[in-house]
Amino acid sequence: MKKAPPKPKGLATLARQARAARRRAHAPFSRFKVGAALRTRTGEVVTGCNIESASYGLTMCAERVAIFKAVSEGLRDFDAIVVVADSPRPTAPCGACRQVMWELAGDIWVQIVNLHGRTRTLRMSELLPLPFDARNL
Ligand code: THU
Repeated sequence: MKKAPPKPKGLATLARQARAARRRAHAPFSRFKVGAALRTRTGEVVTGCNIESASYGLTMCAERVAIFKAVSEGLRDFDAIVVVADSPRPTAPCGACRQVMWELAGDIWVQIVNLHGRTRTLRMSELLPLPFDARNL
């Protein structure tokens, strides 16, 4: 069996940044605020929050806001993302976000946290086994 890579350091700081981003969420329709903080291997952090639209389907999740912001700023080499929401159990990224995170960030660490500090730390490859990506094309 392949040995799991060691858990990354500094996720508590990244979680604080995700919590701060969550407070900037624009979620007047669901009232479900989500924050994300994405980190590059060299330590830059880009945050995101969910942004909803009255045309509901145009809503963008916190994770994709963070990753699109980062890529648009020229950042590519990521190692971890923390996602914070107010749910009894930590909220895992939706399917659309998993696809985008896999394609743009690869097999990074994903920590999901609720406001009571309940935490789970997984690899992207656990959240999206058997992915569809550029290698299939
Ligand atoms: N949402 C996120 O931002 N990230 C997730 O991982 C799950 C869902 C947002 C989308 C929408 O604004 C609200 O949460 C309810 O679905």
